[in-house]
Amino acid sequence: MAASSDERFKMLVAALDFGTTYSGYAFSFKGDYANDPSKINANTMWTTGSKSLFSQKTPTCLLLRPDKTFHSFGFEAEEHYSSLVDMDEHHSWYYFRRFKMLLHNNMDLTRDTKVRDESREKGKELPALDVFAHSIRYLKNHLLKHLKKKSVANLIGGEEDDEYIHWVLTIPAIWNDRAKQFMREAAKEAGIKSTNLSLALEPEAAALFCKILPLEKQTTESGTNLSMLKPGTRYMVLDLGGGTVDVTVQEVLPDHTLKELHKASGGAWGGTKIDEAFRQLIISIVGAPVFQEFQEKYPKDYLEMLQSFETKKRAVNTSSKDTFRIPVSLVELFEDEFGEKLDLIPSKTRHRGKLELNGDKLILSGEMISEMFKHSRESIVEHVESLFAHPFCKDVDKILMVGGFSECVIIQEAIKKRFPNKRVVIPPDAGLAIVKGAVLFGHNPKMIISRNTKWTYGVQTNRNFKPGDPPDKMFKVGNVEKCKEIFSVHIGVNKTVEVGTPLPPKRYRALHRDDETIDIPIYISSEEQPEFTTDSSCSYLGKLTIELQKSNSDREIEVGMTFGGTELVVEAKGTKNKEVCVAKFDFLESKDKQF
Ligand SMILES: Nc1ncnc2c1ncn2[C@@H]1O[C@H](COP(=O)(O)OP(=O)(O)OP(=O)(O)O)[C@@H](O)[C@H]1O
Ligand SMILES: [Mg+2]
Repeated sequence: MAASSDERFKMLVAALDFGTTYSGYAFSFKGDYANDPSKINANTMWTTGSKSLFSQKTPTCLLLRPDKTFHSFGFEAEEHYSSLVDMDEHHSWYYFRRFKMLLHNNMDLTRDTKVRDESREKGKELPALDVFAHSIRYLKNHLLKHLKKKSVANLIGGEEDDEYIHWVLTIPAIWNDRAKQFMREAAKEAGIKSTNLSLALEPEAAALFCKILPLEKQTTESGTNLSMLKPGTRYMVLDLGGGTVDVTVQEVLPDHTLKELHKASGGAWGGTKIDEAFRQLIISIVGAPVFQEFQEKYPKDYLEMLQSFETKKRAVNTSSKDTFRIPVSLVELFEDEFGEKLDLIPSKTRHRGKLELNGDKLILSGEMISEMFKHSRESIVEHVESLFAHPFCKDVDKILMVGGFSECVIIQEAIKKRFPNKRVVIPPDAGLAIVKGAVLFGHNPKMIISRNTKWTYGVQTNRNFKPGDPPDKMFKVGNVEKCKEIFSVHIGVNKTVEVGTPLPPKRYRALHRDDETIDIPIYISSEEQPEFTTDSSCSYLGKLTIELQKSNSDREIEVGMTFGGTELVVEAKGTKNKEVCVAKFDFLESKDKQF
């Protein structure tokens, strides 16, 4: 098969779901997709160093050797790191977990951003790009090995993977363009050519997957069959992950394509917030210094405590008390430090009556368990409530809950209780809906026909100074008083934009005769009509660089930006000669090079 940069000509679509807590992949053949789109393969068997585990995904943990080369990822990395800790040999190794959230809402993200290793030991940090690239490379290689094992590679006939695979990486819909470009560059470092890669937005992917589910597989409140997502249906997708909660509202159009009705929204209210609440609870009992000493002296016990909490939290409810184990080493550390039995502490704290300690057993009341889930639960419910208050949600009568955290009964019940008139649908294998949907997106990205802008986008320009303008923004060109740092809006927030359709072009001119490029600073704002790029609602996103051709005698170009895709796209050409120019966004330049 001829190499092509277009996913339509690839034989296989492979999606990598690189999650905050867990990662996995799925793939399907073009031929299978045409016959039965639901025929998607996902790897559900992950191995540790010592055994094979039946699991839909593997933990997002990366272990690098002291020389910073790759050692392992996932269960295998968890297990090996734990044995290194056991032998006190971990100090020179690098262990990273849950680092995806570094990209969330991070307007300081650059190519130089570093991630700290889990031990938090001094100096143990590495470039985030390398850490992400190692992880993506692992998932990619694991998938390629899996294909080989299944003799799929024979079918393809020894071609290089980039000749027959179109790759898709999933990302939260609420991420900004910096984070998206970061993932694209990490994927490139991991050996995935940019032309062979699409980014899929997680809740959108999940909606595509739910669309093809056979009706009888849907579990609903009433247990009746649903005619799911037929034309005219308006629904909300709640993608509840480990890090983020990502919400979109869509409508199914008569041709079965999907239209976004409101910009993607959400926040950092995922499942890891419960882990953090548990950690804070323990700290409130033993005190921060003892907890820190415990983490440093007994890292293996600390890791085991986190792992056992992960299992326990899936089984708890808020109507009865439950027992959680805490390490004996932590109890002893506290008692040695304070000369007091730890069991006696709860009655002296604000937790009195809500929790008990008995040796290494921590018994939490239903009320206390409920409190651990409170922040996530309330943030999610309040956010959904605020969306339903908008007119665009008037006819939305279904809520699709996907992502691993949507399997949490406490969250499910909170949603059902607050929205009794909505149909809450949780597809089977809610955690895999995203990666499987991402495969569908890779086969046919045109299934999503429009989206809504998450911000106002614009560029920084100057204009003539007007009375009332801030005096510190005034500068002179000849005798003309000008005002700098003006936010010139390209498109406002929450505007519907069609996929693949650029906005009407805007014209820019090079300032000097001999300029070879035009650099345009791009800004975003949460407001509809920001005035200055220095307003508190505005952030610098990065720059657009356009190469000027020698043949462009008047030095003027037309720039058309497309906002409807999962990433920003730009097209530039000479205003007169209509020749296409090379135009590139850079949202990740290091701080000292920024405007
Ligand atoms: N039954 C359950 N009860 C409570 N929490 C659960 C349950 N099942 C999974 N989780 C939590 O869901 C989260 C994992 O969900 P998922 O795999 O969708 O997240 P992710 O892809 O790693 O994160 P993200 O999509 O935010 O990057 C974890 O925090 C996990 O503890
Ligand atoms: Mg996820």
